[in-house]
Amino acid sequence: MQTELIGPRLRFSDLKPPPADFRREVVEGLRLPQKTLSPKFFYDAEGCRLFEAICDLPEYYLTRTEIGILTEHAEGIARILGQGGTLIELGSGNSRKVRLLLEALRPAVYIPVDIAREHLLAASRTLAADYPWLDIHAACLDYSEHFEMPFLPDVQRKVIFFPGSSIGNFEPAAAENLLCSIAQCVQPEGGLLIGFDLKKDARLLHAAYNDSAGVTAQFNLNLLRCINDRAAANFALDRFHHDAFYNEPQGRIEMHLCSESCQQVIVAGETFDFLDGESIHTENSYKYGIEEFRSLARNAGFEPGHCWCDRNGLFCVHYFAVSSD
Ligand code: AVJ
Repeated sequence: MQTELIGPRLRFSDLKPPPADFRREVVEGLRLPQKTLSPKFFYDAEGCRLFEAICDLPEYYLTRTEIGILTEHAEGIARILGQGGTLIELGSGNSRKVRLLLEALRPAVYIPVDIAREHLLAASRTLAADYPWLDIHAACLDYSEHFEMPFLPDVQRKVIFFPGSSIGNFEPAAAENLLCSIAQCVQPEGGLLIGFDLKKDARLLHAAYNDSAGVTAQFNLNLLRCINDRAAANFALDRFHHDAFYNEPQGRIEMHLCSESCQQVIVAGETFDFLDGESIHTENSYKYGIEEFRSLARNAGFEPGHCWCDRNGLFCVHYFAVSSD
């Protein structure tokens, strides 16, 4: 690992996996009976831009609702988290949400973690300029497989901030594993401030992932461009279409890319056959009940603390303290 000093109070550690790992993971996913690509591959420069456009869509209530909760309750959140600690954000993206907490929370150090290197760097530079009192240590890494922060100084009072319902991308068992690793990282006296999307009327969920402007469809299809660029593939973007639906028994939105014909695609030298209508599963977005999520967190070694919801019960920001035993 390499750590660079980028500004007087801005450091950057690059722990991003090498391109060969990317190609191997892509090919392994496409060999499965249900072809699958991980949602972490969405975020090239165009993917980051499209995701930010999604966040502003009228149908995509998640971002707006979470921002409302954080804005309204910043002081209360800061009282529970305590000032002067180390704040680590997973999937920090443009670091727009943490800004709502920084003045109230006054952490000593902020550690944004994201898989999109350039986006992370740009966001950290802007943040450093806007908050000259704050030490920032940005880390580019993939927290989805195995989460560990080897470069983290052995400081007290670490809190992981994991907003945006990014936890929804994980199968419940993998989510529990990730929360276990988070508990390891913040113990003995830290915590987790996590935002997750709540179970609700299927029509609302459906609309949020099938917006009328077609931005989510573009975001989904852009994944194929990412794979073409980074895994030497020849997907034709106009021969697949976006499909998103709520899988009620599983409590998750599923996104797929469906082949519009019988076709072959070459990826990293290997040929993949698609039937007419066959899909690649590109994302799960799990929705939770509050009690359901608490029991998952308890299993991972957390004690439920305070939670903040919007008045319509769409979204929840929840604090968990790491269990003492
Ligand atoms: C960033 C994973 C929380 O699942 O809602 C938005 C990604 N996908 N629209 C989500 C996404 C399609 C988003 N997360």
